[in-house]
Amino acid sequence: MRVGIVGCGGMGGVHANKYALMPDVELSVFDVDTAKAESFCAARNIKRADSLSDLLRDCEAADVCLPTPVHREVAIKCLRAGRPTLVEKPMARSMADCQAMIAESKSSGSMLVPAHVVRFFPEFRAAHDVIAAGKIGVPASIRLRRGGGAPKAEWFLDVDQSGGILLDLAVHEFDWLNWTLGRPKLVTSRSVRLGDRVKDADFRGDYALTTISYDNGCVAHVESTWMDPAGFKVTIEACGSGGAVEYDSSRNPTLRVAGGATENNYLPTDDPYYKQLRAFVDAATGKTAPAVTAEEGLLAVQVAEAAVTSARTGKPIAL
Ligand SMILES: NC(=O)c1ccc[n+]([C@@H]2O[C@H](COP(=O)([O-])OP(=O)(O)OC[C@H]3O[C@@H](n4cnc5c(N)ncnc54)[C@H](O)[C@@H]3O)[C@@H](O)[C@H]2O)c1
Repeated sequence: MRVGIVGCGGMGGVHANKYALMPDVELSVFDVDTAKAESFCAARNIKRADSLSDLLRDCEAADVCLPTPVHREVAIKCLRAGRPTLVEKPMARSMADCQAMIAESKSSGSMLVPAHVVRFFPEFRAAHDVIAAGKIGVPASIRLRRGGGAPKAEWFLDVDQSGGILLDLAVHEFDWLNWTLGRPKLVTSRSVRLGDRVKDADFRGDYALTTISYDNGCVAHVESTWMDPAGFKVTIEACGSGGAVEYDSSRNPTLRVAGGATENNYLPTDDPYYKQLRAFVDAATGKTAPAVTAEEGLLAVQVAEAAVTSARTGKPIAL
């Protein structure tokens, strides 16, 4: 399958490196920054397209790795060209954008898949399976935490563009919770901002704590931060009537390299990003159903929008 990657920034690089391990995939890439695309393609021996329409002519499936505000416009062009399309998370900047993309997917008949990679992380998959199989009894509370330093690209720190921590970061948790617990019912969020690094008039986007009640009675707490100087850390703590399950990435047996860099201990084909992209290629070639539906991508963005409204107004938001 010929896959066209749109955007050769951080995630474009991750995706390109994982597709490179698949013997049945050929890549081409388009980025508005031609110089960046040239060196990206030269380093990986990948074909560079001169425009989005050139890329779409050349590929059979599209993979959108662009800043969140342009997901809608570019994904709609990919879908309209008849290409099954994977879109990095969050699926789009707003619910309205997600709905427009879903409408295009339906009218063009092209598959739209949001890239919720957390579902492919083994610890999140295992926690989901343990809870779904009833091994902790009736789930009562789930606490999730994700955070570290702020991302480097400028656009992330402009909340108008990225949606800030409640959309850009917490959407990982919101999707996993919806997948694991079902329908979210009520969303309450509080947030703080310590400096002026995150550009945001009133939303205080350095740290947020969001509480979500689910139809099944479970209460979830999601902590999200871009101001943890200790580095990136993810935790899961789920308690139910019959047991509990816990995970802390800082206690994972990863390889720590002097100077602070870390390596994961996955086999190349066990890597969550590899698995996500493999699942997309298999779905795009009709071998399997997509791992995540566009409606699930929309629901995660809906929870994020409710959390932002709650953080702004101080009120709980019913979905
Ligand atoms: N799944 C994850 O773990 C994860 C991690 C980081 C970011 N993301 C998401 O991935 C997406 C991309 O993030 P990133 O870190 O790669 O961003 P980035 O800023 O590193 O890269 C974006 C690239 O898109 C290019 N670009 C911008 N507008 C374009 C357009 N209209 N057409 C073609 N190229 C264009 C830029 O030149 C840049 O090279 C975002 O939605 C982000 O939230 C996901």
